[in-house]
Amino acid sequence: MRKRILTGDRPTGPLHLGHYVGSLKNRVELQKEYETFILIADVQALTDNFENPQKINDNLYEVALDYLSVGIDPAISTIVVQSMIPEIAELTIFLMNLETVGRLETNPTVKDEIKQKGFEKSLPVGFFCYPISQAADITAFKADLVPVGVDQLPMIESTRELVRKFNRLYGNTLIEPKALISEFSKLPGIDGAKMSKSLGNTINLSDSESEVKKKVMKMYTDPKRIHKDDPGQVEGNVVFVYHDAFNPNKKEVEEFKKLYREGKIGDVEIKERLIVVLNEFLDPIRKRRAEYASNMGAVKKILLDGIARGREVAGVTLKEVKQAMKINYF
Ligand code: TRP
Repeated sequence: MRKRILTGDRPTGPLHLGHYVGSLKNRVELQKEYETFILIADVQALTDNFENPQKINDNLYEVALDYLSVGIDPAISTIVVQSMIPEIAELTIFLMNLETVGRLETNPTVKDEIKQKGFEKSLPVGFFCYPISQAADITAFKADLVPVGVDQLPMIESTRELVRKFNRLYGNTLIEPKALISEFSKLPGIDGAKMSKSLGNTINLSDSESEVKKKVMKMYTDPKRIHKDDPGQVEGNVVFVYHDAFNPNKKEVEEFKKLYREGKIGDVEIKERLIVVLNEFLDPIRKRRAEYASNMGAVKKILLDGIARGREVAGVTLKEVKQAMKINYF
């Protein structure tokens, strides 16, 4: 059997360049080699947006368009809407028996997010348990490989633990997945902080040329550099991080770095070049997006086909899971 990939994103906003270098790029490249499932994790998105379901509804098709526009090919990859796969919810319930409150409490990603979202005083159980449902996402599809950003490593680790426990108790049934982390999985936002839609510092895959221009012009550079002929710092400089990640002309980037360190090139010049680089990168993505967006009927069909295929695959796993757990009475 061909090895499988499963990854996903919460549809809480447009996907951005951080998503691209962190994991979308890997997915597009690997989809030919691996059987690929991409989950639009609307159920998970609701765990911290249950008061604002319209936001998730608004972003479902947008995220589907993001996937298709970067080159996820629906002829070879399967896009799955999480809420439409009841097998995932079922498996979540079974896996809950194998997880402990203590281990969830010490999960570094959950800990960070609880703080970030102000859930310290009153923590919704659904949110607290989302690592278990994420483990169900991965294992229902028997994924071998999970391309994600580094922030997701604790999720994969807890999934691996759950799989080992399940297989030890009930016999070899589930697959222990591996994380695939990419080189640029920590692309900063335009202000140098972590790129995140909640911080409003993203460059989105769906941004127009003028939005990209505006955002790059606002990008942080070297805060200590005041005049153009001051020697500048390249390390940690947001504009250079982006050149490294997106400029295909590595020689040019090295030259820019040298000139910048010597105080011989201005912020504006390297930003102007970055605007061109990013727009050249985004142009084919924008074109493909416009094509799909002009035929939303076809996008709907892609999603419905994905759901059907998803249920088929997860259905097989759940049958095996129930047999292993001895809940196969009839
Ligand atoms: N937690 C992931 C995120 O916030 C999204 C996600 C949901 C996911 N289910 C998944 C990622 C399964 C990988 C595998 O980005």
